[in-house]
Amino acid sequence: MKIIVKDNYSEMSKLAASVIADLVRKKPDCVLGLATGATPIGTYHELARLHKEEGLDFSAVTTFNLDEYLGISMDLTLPYEMDQSYARFMHEELFKKINIKKKNAHVPYGLATDPDKYCKEYEKMIADAGGLDLQLLGIGGDGHIGFNEPGSSFDSRTRVEHLNQKSIDDNYEAFYKKAGVSKEEMPKKAITMGVATIMEAKSLLMIVSGIGKADIIQKALEGPVTTQITASAIQIFKRDVTVILDKPAASKLKKL
Ligand code: PGA
Repeated sequence: MKIIVKDNYSEMSKLAASVIADLVRKKPDCVLGLATGATPIGTYHELARLHKEEGLDFSAVTTFNLDEYLGISMDLTLPYEMDQSYARFMHEELFKKINIKKKNAHVPYGLATDPDKYCKEYEKMIADAGGLDLQLLGIGGDGHIGFNEPGSSFDSRTRVEHLNQKSIDDNYEAFYKKAGVSKEEMPKKAITMGVATIMEAKSLLMIVSGIGKADIIQKALEGPVTTQITASAIQIFKRDVTVILDKPAASKLKKL
């Protein structure tokens, strides 16, 4: 595992974007697994800049997002701050700024009428695309990757998951509060790739920022591998893993 510490969020984001951009240049039809949350916004903005200023070409790239809240989907008639779907987040923060083909950019469909069946189809879509070349990951305050909450099996695949209170609280503070949506009204379930789905990617790129993540990333990278912190699964990942942290997030690591 490669662990890289950068001075700040902006440097972390630039390096993460350059890892993704290198792959896109080397393999123009690569399959990228993408993530939502506050952490990847800088990475997506840098990728958009590389597209605009340096012609980074996404026309043959396929993407699959890790997760989406169950019960909502993108609604372009709403202002961005009122539409909390991850599909809308991806549209605004990345997809509309690059030349990816709409049909190639996949976010789990939160309004699926038969979510369990849909989850199986999502797995098949990833497999049919040739599997994920690179999966971008953040880490949740409870140690989750995707929405694989504490206790999720390392054998888990794309499925509907109940969010735990920590995830609801974190996402309320980061996103829902601004939209005036109460915690009671927030979605409590999500469709998420499973830990096994993520671990089948050919490479993993984790980005971690801020002092608020220092304890959990220390446990995930240096503590026991446990389903109570699903991000700890990356310690037993067999292929290429890069973790990029900013200084505050790295401040509790002991083995640097
Ligand atoms: P964040 O979320 O980037 O908003 O901290 C990370 C995650 O939940 O994976």
